Amino acid sequence: MTTISVGMLGCGTVGSGVLTLLNRGDNQISESLGVHFNIKKIAVKHPDKKRGLNITKDLSFTGEIENVINDPSIQIVIEVMGTLDQAYKAIQQAITNGKSVITANKELIALKGPQLTKLAHDYHVDLYYEASVAGGIPILRVLNESLITDQITGLTGIVNGTSNFVLSAMKTDHSSYEESLKQAQSLGYAEANPIKDIEGIDAAYKLSILSQLAFGHSINLKQLKRKGIEGVTSNDINGAEVLGLTIKPAVIARQKDHELFTLVGPVAVYKQNPLANVNGVENSVLVTSTALGTTSYSGPGAGSEPTANSVMSDLLAVTKHILLEQIGTSFNKTTDDIGESSLMN
Ligand code: NDP
Ligand code: HSE
Repeated sequence: MTTISVGMLGCGTVGSGVLTLLNRGDNQISESLGVHFNIKKIAVKHPDKKRGLNITKDLSFTGEIENVINDPSIQIVIEVMGTLDQAYKAIQQAITNGKSVITANKELIALKGPQLTKLAHDYHVDLYYEASVAGGIPILRVLNESLITDQITGLTGIVNGTSNFVLSAMKTDHSSYEESLKQAQSLGYAEANPIKDIEGIDAAYKLSILSQLAFGHSINLKQLKRKGIEGVTSNDINGAEVLGLTIKPAVIARQKDHELFTLVGPVAVYKQNPLANVNGVENSVLVTSTALGTTSYSGPGAGSEPTANSVMSDLLAVTKHILLEQIGTSFNKTTDDIGESSLMN
């Protein structure tokens, strides 16, 4: 059994979900991969807070991020605390310390993704961020792997669970905007600052990450046409309904003649449009590509366990690389030994 030491930055909605899934999947992971994950340290803002985690193992909380990123025994760092500057500094340091990093931080990846990717490449470590876009939907893997040889010409989607939850609740439960937003916050869907959800900022970050992977370049976020859902009223929703339309918080990117058209904001879609039936916290991304045509990827776009599942898939991807490297090292050692012994003979 190989033990892999992991450090975490953050233990809120997503972090506690990761611990739950690690605890639940422990035996399955040991049996299938021969690996045991040891969560060595978790950096949080309030280390003495009672967390009510339903986990049998002893966990070591610290108030110092450095205790995690500078611990030489930690091989993988999972960043699920949010923030921009602090997370950027911490991840840079972790990478230069030779650790692979997994993050759910869309703001960071949208704004600093290319720099961090280059740094990880230079230090021969992994940087994965599947959870940063569309929560539990493995959309980045689809773009990075399944569609890697296809030409993507367009992306349309709903990538903010909070906005979709709020508009859906206003439509089906006739809840007020404020009530629905409060509910989304209490369910752990919203960002620490929910303005990022309702003003379309979170969706813009996600569209930028999707564009980096689909079209090879990020979006100029300052030039992006962006609107939030804060101006959408019950009247708008009811009026659209009368006309057979549903208002959805959409993101659109279309590549045409080497130009990228982008939009983030509420749009009215016909009931027959696949996005019309994506409700609550669900997200959906429709990808148009030359070989495949239009394919759609839907599922829970936020929340503890769905998002943690994306982190887990990244954790297993990094672990497989570590195991392969170990096999490579022991293979090289063996061939060196064979070389030496054949020289001696
Ligand atoms: P939470 O607010 O629930 O948790 C944040 C965690 O980070 C807390 O444990 C907090 O500590 C800790 N933390 C915050 N600031 C610091 C700091 N300066 N130093 C050390 N620890 C810190 O956030 P979420 O779990 O919801 O989100 C985390 C990240 O995941 C964000 O980047 C978010 O955008 C992203 N994300 C969230 C999703 C969701 O559904 N919630 C889905 C996809 C991505 P303490 O507990 O002590 O306060
Ligand atoms: N606040 C985000 C959302 C979390 O509501 O979609 C998932 O990225």
